[in-house]
Amino acid sequence: MAKAKETAFFCSECGYESPKWSGQCPACKEWNTMVEAPVRTQIKASVRKPDTLLRTDEKPSLISEINAEEKERIITGMEEFDRVLGGGIVKGSLILVGGDPGIGKSTILTQVCKLLSDKGEEVLYISGEESLRQIKMRADRIGTFTNHMKLYCETDLDKIEAVIAQEKPEVCIIDSIQTMYRPDVAGAPGSMSQVRESTGLLLSIAKGMGIAVFVVGHVTKEGVVAGPRMLEHMVDTVLYFEGEAQSPYRVLRGVKNRFGSTNEIGVFEMTQDGLKEVRNPSEYMLLGRPKDTSGSIVSCTIEGTRQILVEIQSLVARTAFGNPRRSATGLDYNRLNLLIAVLEKRLGLNMAENDVYVNVVGGLKINETALDLAIVIAMASGIMDFAVPQDLIAIGEVGLSGEVRNVSQVGARINEAAKMGFTTFIVPKASLQKMKVPEGLNVIGVSNVAEAVRCVKPR
Ligand code: TYD
Ligand code: MG
Repeated sequence: MAKAKETAFFCSECGYESPKWSGQCPACKEWNTMVEAPVRTQIKASVRKPDTLLRTDEKPSLISEINAEEKERIITGMEEFDRVLGGGIVKGSLILVGGDPGIGKSTILTQVCKLLSDKGEEVLYISGEESLRQIKMRADRIGTFTNHMKLYCETDLDKIEAVIAQEKPEVCIIDSIQTMYRPDVAGAPGSMSQVRESTGLLLSIAKGMGIAVFVVGHVTKEGVVAGPRMLEHMVDTVLYFEGEAQSPYRVLRGVKNRFGSTNEIGVFEMTQDGLKEVRNPSEYMLLGRPKDTSGSIVSCTIEGTRQILVEIQSLVARTAFGNPRRSATGLDYNRLNLLIAVLEKRLGLNMAENDVYVNVVGGLKINETALDLAIVIAMASGIMDFAVPQDLIAIGEVGLSGEVRNVSQVGARINEAAKMGFTTFIVPKASLQKMKVPEGLNVIGVSNVAEAVRCVKPR
């Protein structure tokens, strides 16, 4: 009988399994991602006889009898962090914290450790990347720690398992998954098989001992956690820590959460002594806004349960070469191209001879269509060279015929802007008809972009 295959090829991006190597993954079409890794040997069919499989007391449960009480959570006291997790750390959960190298993953987790250890929770920080001295140097910038926080430098997960069993911490940090390995699994640390098996072990530690385990994962240029995507499927919660390296501003974003809503964000600022929470992001985003210049307007975006005011800036300049340049920072490039086309066609502005740069100030990444109208007005203001009034914001989605369409939660957005001192609001006409206008505010409903530009342009 032919010997059973012991290895197969796995795609390091999507986890697709194939008996043969190929240059391109047949599933996700990525190139050069198929790597050889051992397959787990199948248990012989004879061992798994149906009548011996179940214990006598094992049976499916009645849904009406299941107790769905809220899981026990540990509150860190760092509000921005707790909110992203859905109201604190759930005991026995596995949480992935992804982000670019140097963005501040180790810093935020060290700060979380400090807050927890101050409250008397036992925490264990395990690092495979830095020495005890390096971690201590970072910790010194953050503050003084109590005796409830312990450090351990190791990459061998079998040893780590033993240490966790011995120390029995409440919360454990693994920094990072790409440095960890299991001696009984083939492949170098960070390889597909190691990451998969290591995460599997950490999952069983988290569930088995009821410990909340945070796993740090580095992100590749394409924005996925280096190694297999399947890491994201295995864990309970995925948090991404994002921001521009040159700006001090950081966003912690929940992209998957089995214990709460996703798309919540926490906003932080990197300072000399660690990350500081930004309680009022709107105020932060509008800091240093230029007065009376063309190409700038404020809008309101919704992230999870919060409204955040952002400034959209555009610069429209004559093209020096044949092809006009378009650049989008903080918003989708294709969306920008679409809005430029709308501007050209519906407002009759000549965009083909102009370079267009659009920037969401502050480093926030927007993927909400509610900002379309503001982007269009910013560009129109840039090309027609007029300044939009300081106390005005614009909200609305722009359709292909130049119509301004309804967006969600217009009332909430207006309230947030009113709190920050804005008095004039350009909103979709359809939204205006459905809402009650708060007193003292000048809310103008518009039905297309031409009308909107007429409203904001000083006569
Ligand atoms: P770090 O947490 O080591 O990043 P990661 O674990 O995601 O790779 O943070 C790295 C950066 O943060 C580094 O460039 C130094 C900076 N930093 C501060 O500016 N202030 C601080 O208090 C700390 C601890 C770090
Ligand atoms: Mg680190």
